Amino acid sequence: MRILFTGGSGKAGRHVIPYLLAQGHRVLNVDLVPLDVPGVDNLIADITDSGQMFNAMTAYAGFDELEPGTGVPRFDAVVHFAAIPRILIAPDNETFRVNTIGTYNVIEAAVKLGIAKVVIASSETTYGICFADGVADPNYLPLDEGYDVSPMDSYGLSKVVNEATARAFAKRSGADIYALRIGNVVEPHEYAQDFPRYFADPVLRRRNFFCYIDARDLGQIVDRCLKVDGLGYQVFNAGNDENGMNLDNAELLARFFPGVPVTRELSPREALFSNAKIREVLGFREAHRWQDYVTG
Ligand SMILES: NC(=O)c1ccc[n+]([C@@H]2O[C@H](COP(=O)([O-])OP(=O)(O)OC[C@H]3O[C@@H](n4cnc5c(N)ncnc54)[C@H](O)[C@@H]3O)[C@@H](O)[C@H]2O)c1
Repeated sequence: MRILFTGGSGKAGRHVIPYLLAQGHRVLNVDLVPLDVPGVDNLIADITDSGQMFNAMTAYAGFDELEPGTGVPRFDAVVHFAAIPRILIAPDNETFRVNTIGTYNVIEAAVKLGIAKVVIASSETTYGICFADGVADPNYLPLDEGYDVSPMDSYGLSKVVNEATARAFAKRSGADIYALRIGNVVEPHEYAQDFPRYFADPVLRRRNFFCYIDARDLGQIVDRCLKVDGLGYQVFNAGNDENGMNLDNAELLARFFPGVPVTRELSPREALFSNAKIREVLGFREAHRWQDYVTG
């Protein structure tokens, strides 16, 4: 597929794009800074500028596309990752502005240009615990896509708004727009770097529900979203199969979520941030467990 990918130069994109290239896709990365990866085309553009998004989606991806003499090819899909990726980087209103207006612009341009598949990066923070003031308990565990999301921070709120934007455009256009509630992204080098201190002090991971997504497995999830058509608007948790923690759920629940209802039986280390839907609907099969890279 010919894919326009926003925000591909960042932490997640620099692993997801190589995965997509390895599957045979062509990728144009649209970002404020280029991604220096062989085989990827770059276009410097700002998602907060609607004109630039319409223009990018009707552009050649590279000089080679001039050769056939048949005009600009169409994009088959848009993957939208560009964002300010958490609170406390920019002022709250700027985080909200860039993430919501940027996502509106990207989705609007895609569907009005007839691109039938859009995948957007939402976030585990929509569940409202990650950036909450103080300790906030979830309504229930494991977290699934049917949860009534209500964060109290500008970043999580921007992602809730983006999901509503995606839903509205899917409803009106009939396009497939899938929102990935991405868990805490872990790059290959971060297992050895970070997991030993998480194991030493599990409190560090409570706000992430002890979940994680390997950056390369996130590439597989995006690829599965590109390949599974006809689902309209969908939300998917994007996480690995098990908690990123060397403790069983019985201990995690008793220590960190006492009193939180548990809605079904869990296997000892099954993720509290459920990935059942991506496994069942998209056919995701994790390839990178933390246990492959660090001892616990
Ligand atoms: N990293 C995580 O753990 C995590 C978890 C959940 C969701 N997410 C979401 O996944 C996506 C990718 O996250 P990441 O960690 O790679 O973030 P990142 O900050 O590393 O990468 C984001 C990219 O977007 C680009 N960008 C920012 N503003 C832009 C603009 N106005 N126009 C064009 N490009 C712009 C940046 O230059 C950067 O390359 C984001 O939408 C983020 O909210 C990330």
